[in-house]
This record gives sequence, structure tokens and C-alpha cells, in this order.
Amino acid sequence: LARVLLRKVYKMNLKQLIKTLSIEEKIGQLMQLAPFFFKKDSKVEVIGSVRHLDLDEDEIFLAGSVLGIGNREEMISIQKKYLEKSRHKIPLVFMADIIHGYESIFPIPLALACSFNPSLVEQASKVSALEAQTAGIHVTFAPMADVSRDPRWGRVMESFGEDPYLASLMSAATVKGFQGSDISKVGHLASCVKHFAAYGAIEAGRDYNTVEMSMHQFYNVYAPPYEAAIKAGSHLAMMAFNTFNGIPCTVHDTLIQNILKDEMHFKGLIITDYDGLQQVVAHGVAENRKEAAYQGIKAGIDIEMMSTTYIKHLKALVEEGRVDIKIIDDAVMRVLELKRKLGLFEDPYKGASSLDRNKIVMCESHLELTKKIAHECAVLLKNDGLLPIDKEVKLALIGPYANNQQTNGAWSWHGDTRKNKTLAEAFIKQQNKVVFYKNGHHISDYHEDDIKEISKADIVILCLGEYERETGEAKSKTKLNLPRGQETLLELAKLLNKKTITILFNGRPLVLNEMITSNAILETWFLGSRAADAIVDLLNGSVNPSGKLAMTFIQNEGQIPLYYNHLNTGRPYRDEYNEYVSKYLDVSNEPEFCFGHGLSYANFIYQSMDLDDNFSNNYQVKVQIKNDSKFAGYEVVQLYIKDNVSRPVRPIKELKAFQKVWFEANETKTIIFELHQSDLLYKNEKGKPFLEAGFFTISIGGSSQTKLSKQVYCKEEIDDYSK
Ligand code: BGC
Repeated sequence: LARVLLRKVYKMNLKQLIKTLSIEEKIGQLMQLAPFFFKKDSKVEVIGSVRHLDLDEDEIFLAGSVLGIGNREEMISIQKKYLEKSRHKIPLVFMADIIHGYESIFPIPLALACSFNPSLVEQASKVSALEAQTAGIHVTFAPMADVSRDPRWGRVMESFGEDPYLASLMSAATVKGFQGSDISKVGHLASCVKHFAAYGAIEAGRDYNTVEMSMHQFYNVYAPPYEAAIKAGSHLAMMAFNTFNGIPCTVHDTLIQNILKDEMHFKGLIITDYDGLQQVVAHGVAENRKEAAYQGIKAGIDIEMMSTTYIKHLKALVEEGRVDIKIIDDAVMRVLELKRKLGLFEDPYKGASSLDRNKIVMCESHLELTKKIAHECAVLLKNDGLLPIDKEVKLALIGPYANNQQTNGAWSWHGDTRKNKTLAEAFIKQQNKVVFYKNGHHISDYHEDDIKEISKADIVILCLGEYERETGEAKSKTKLNLPRGQETLLELAKLLNKKTITILFNGRPLVLNEMITSNAILETWFLGSRAADAIVDLLNGSVNPSGKLAMTFIQNEGQIPLYYNHLNTGRPYRDEYNEYVSKYLDVSNEPEFCFGHGLSYANFIYQSMDLDDNFSNNYQVKVQIKNDSKFAGYEVVQLYIKDNVSRPVRPIKELKAFQKVWFEANETKTIIFELHQSDLLYKNEKGKPFLEAGFFTISIGGSSQTKLSKQVYCKEEIDDYSK
């Protein structure tokens, strides 16, 4: 009863509660530890030196939050033990990386972006929130809103790709899905947008590396997806590991105070990344951990994840008069506010005690949803007419993913790949004629007997890619071709005179080299729990592919970074005169596959475009498209703009709108876009929107290599939109 009463009182008056906390208890609220510290047999991995944080039992039980949790029982036992010891009975809040599913695994975020369907992302996040809450998780470290243009970086798989507009829509949809309308309700999580800022722009694609960028580029390309997540209501924000123009983000006052808080109006909790505050010493901007703590609290870091500079040094900094206790009180207030908003004072076990795990986690409807979404995330890169296949055609499956369950992708730590079907199993279940299947990377993995069997097939399906753990955090690479000699499998099929379908499993755009000569190529990324079923549906044609690339496919690594929305040079490449122009001697400037590319079994013809600019602030764009085929399916109709003359110079194309439209066989439709003047804005290096009067080119197509275009005159100038 006492506990219930206390909770009621705290609910009403957090300020009062803070007054009753000792300075140690306050600072404790700002520390986040892994479950390992509370329970030495925890299932959650604790890495490196962080295992030895030199904390005694009393300090550990001051912590305000927990990072990652194994399961429901672990959560309940830690919370219980904690509350028994705690003087004020302030519950722990449990945070974890629920990135693309809890146990029902959805496609990786880069694949989700390829759906060009934010509502699917919202649904996936909603389901993930519900499943995760059965284990008592309250906060997810998602969305990762880092715009990513460098496929060497392993974390592009966690991103929504290279385009600020698409990544903004997807980031906002993630927040909405996880949080729902009210995070106090059971089944909803609070979102933490990460990694602020511009982590995707690390030099050379090497993880944790430096970021140097103009503010002009920051405001126009990198900032929008974070801002979109904040506008969607994200309750937390995580600072990035990297430096940003010379200062580690973790202690970057300008990024936190001026940009995040003042300009983006972020009012929530700010957390470091994993041991980020301690890393400030390694960066060389703080002499020791005490100075790191000083810089962190001054910059605006509320919670320190998995390092102990606050717990060890903040008290001394207050006593020495260097840190005002008011700053600490404000940070503690934000932590307690979050706990209150999550309803933890009323129910510290939220979800773990009230939800029936057995009915929710990996239930059939969730798994079906993973499949439905997977259908829209795969991208048909090439098809010379071989697809869809007839069920009577004899198939041989070779490559490492012929009979492999590892289709979840990185950052799916609760997903159990043993529950997934393999491609071979899925084909057989759908009654395709599979005459041979065997995993192998290299031509030499297939012996004489195997080759005899493969020869019996009409089509060889090359099931190729990267290992799941070859992408994700700290998985940067310089060579992006198919690893371990997989290209030799195409040679094998060609030696046997077979037609080939290549199915790719990977977390980043790859360099395809000779693989491009395969008759058909389906990019499937890592599509999650029902990947294999979804892929077979697409190959058999019971579902028509509709995914579009959220990230450019390069021809070779030397072209990196290559993205569609680049600036023009003063000497752009021209066919007729190509000596002193911006180009390479050994490869063209073209991508292998451009942003927005993705085929369908249908044939969409962009017939005409009309532009109505009678309104002063709005433009209506009408496009007529015909599905000239017997296949019904979705097309993602994409609208790009270009400001023809502007200072500073603007990108050669910028995606500003798209619609995913269903076409029946042979149907012709008129699609209408309403463009507002605000869609034409750009930001200056101070982050202020501006617009110059003049001509814009509006172009439309099924990829960033658009088909139709028209000029529009914009009459009004805007210097500062917020005025
Ligand atoms: C990653 C974050 C993640 C955190 C907690 C870090 O290593 O950079 O994205 O949220 O760990 O797991």
C-alpha cells in the first residue's frame, strides 16, 4: 500500500520528489547500465572494458535505466530487486534496440525504405512495440534517421537510405508506429531518434570515424529526417559517436543547445550512445573522465549510457561549484517525466506483467504482416523476361542462401532464425520443381555429382549475398562485390548453358560486376521471418514486385559516394565533348542502378504530364500513366524538382513527392500531385529557409532517371520562411 501511495504522490508532483533525492540518487537517475550489472547471469552481451566499470553494488542500484533486456522474467526480477532496494521506489525504465522487430522480424530498415510505403513501416513498428513490451521494454532506440550515402558503412542497413525526403517520411512513420497516440498505454514504446548528428556522413564509410560537413549540406540533407522524427513526437534523442566539425557530438553544445533544442524544438531526453561520454577522452577533447562529465552535462546530456563519468564525478563537480545543481535537477526531471509519461509509477512492470506473451509474440497475424511487408521491400533490379517463372520449370538452387535460414539481418537480436524457412523449403512448399539445392560459396564447393544434378535444371537460381553479421555496426568494408568467390557460381551456370536468376541477400548496395549479366536479379536485402515465402511469391508471380531502391547501386567502389541528388559541377559530363569534364577515365559517372529504380512485371508507360500553375502558392501536376501489360501491380510514381538557378547551387534533382499506385492490367490512370511552394524551399547555412523567384523543373518517373518534365515559374521570393 505504501508503495502505491508513494507512486500516486510522485505522479502528481515530480518536483517534490526531486527535492527528496540525495545528490547521489539524482545522479544515479542519469546512469544507464546493462542488465548484466544487476544480474550477473544476464543473457545480454556486455562488450569490452565496459564489463569492468568499477561500480559497487550501491552505485549499481542507483541507476535510473537499463539497456537491453533478455526476456520478461529477467525484466521482472531486475525491477523487483531494484524496487526492493530503492528508497523512493522510482522504477527503472528499460530501453533496448528494437530496430526491425522483436521476435517477428520485419525487413531491415534499408529494405523497408524501398517499399516507399510509410504506412507499412508504421504497422511494422506498432507490432514490434507490442511484442517488445511483453518483455517489459519501454523505450526503443529507433528510428535511425541517419542519411546514408556510403555503402562501405555497415550501418546503411539500419538507415532509410540516401534521400532526405524518403528518410524523413520513414523516420516519422517509425515514431508514430512505436509510440501510437499515447505512450502511457500498454503496448506502446517511446522512440529515441538517433544518431544526432550526421553519423551517416563518416569519412570513408569507416564506422565511428570523423564527420566534416558544411552547415548548408547539414541543413538540407542530413538534418531533415531527425527533425521529422522530432516533429512526429520522438521522446528521446541519442547523440552520435562521431565528431561533427571538430567536436564529438556527445559534448557538442551547438548541436544540442542551438540546433536540437532551439531550432528543432526538441524537449525530450538526450542520451549518449554506448559509452559515448567516456569516448570523449579518446577523442582528445577531455583530459580525463571528470572533464568528460563536465563537458557532457554542460552540453546537455541527460543520460549517460554504459559509462560512469557522471556517477563518479558529477558530485565533485557540483561541490567545486563548476556545475550548478539546477542543471542536474533539470536532467533528472526529464528522466522522471519520461517514467511518468510511460506510466511506470503506476505499473513498473508495464507489459511484462499484463500482456500474454504466448498470444502475442510471433502470432500468425504478425508473421503474415512480416511477409506482406517483405513483398513490397524486395527490388527487382533486372528482368530480361525470365520472371515470373512457371511452376513446371525445373530449378537448381546454388549459393550460400540456397538452403539457409539466416534471413533476419543484423539488429534482430531477439529473432530466432531457426524458425525461418529456407528458400529451398519455400519453393518445395509452393510445389515448384526443385531438382537440386545445396549451399556453397564457390564453384569448387560443387562436385561432379552435384553438377550432374544441376544440369537437369532449366534455370539455376543463384542465392547469393553477405552474411547477416557482415552488415550493421562496426561492419565497414572496402570491397563490396559478392564475397567468398560467389561470382564463380554464375560462371558455373553459364558453363552449363543455363539461364540464371540471382537472388541477393545483403545489407548494403553491392558491386555486381559480371553478376549483372544474370537474366534476372532480385534484391531482397534481409526480409525477416517470412523472407523465403515472400521471395518465392515474387518469383512465381503471385505477387508483383514493387520495391524501389532507397540507395544507389554503384558500378565500382571508386565511385563512392554516388547519389542521385548531387550538385552540378562547372564542367558536367557531356557526350559530345568529354575531355576536360568531370568524369573518371575508367568508369562512367552512371550508377549501376539509380535511386528509385525497381522493376515490375507490369510495364508502366509515362504518357503525359500537365502542370497547372495558376495558383500563387500551389502547383497541380497531373500525370497520365498506362499499365501496358497483363499484370496488375503497384508503381511508385516519383516527383522530383530542380531549382534551375539558385545561389547556393542546388542538387540536380530532389525527390519531393511520390505515390504508390495500384494499376489493374492494361489500366490507364491520371495521378495528381499537389505541390506547395514550401516544397520548393531550401535552407541556407544558418538553417533559414529561402526561395528565389525563377524557373523550376518538375520531373516525373518511375525512378530518379525521370521520364517527363515541365518548367514552372515561381513568382515569390522567401528569405526567411519563419518570419
Ligand atoms: C549503437 C546504437 C545503439 C546502442 C545501444 C550502440 O553501439 O551505436 O545505435 O542504440 O549501441 O545498443
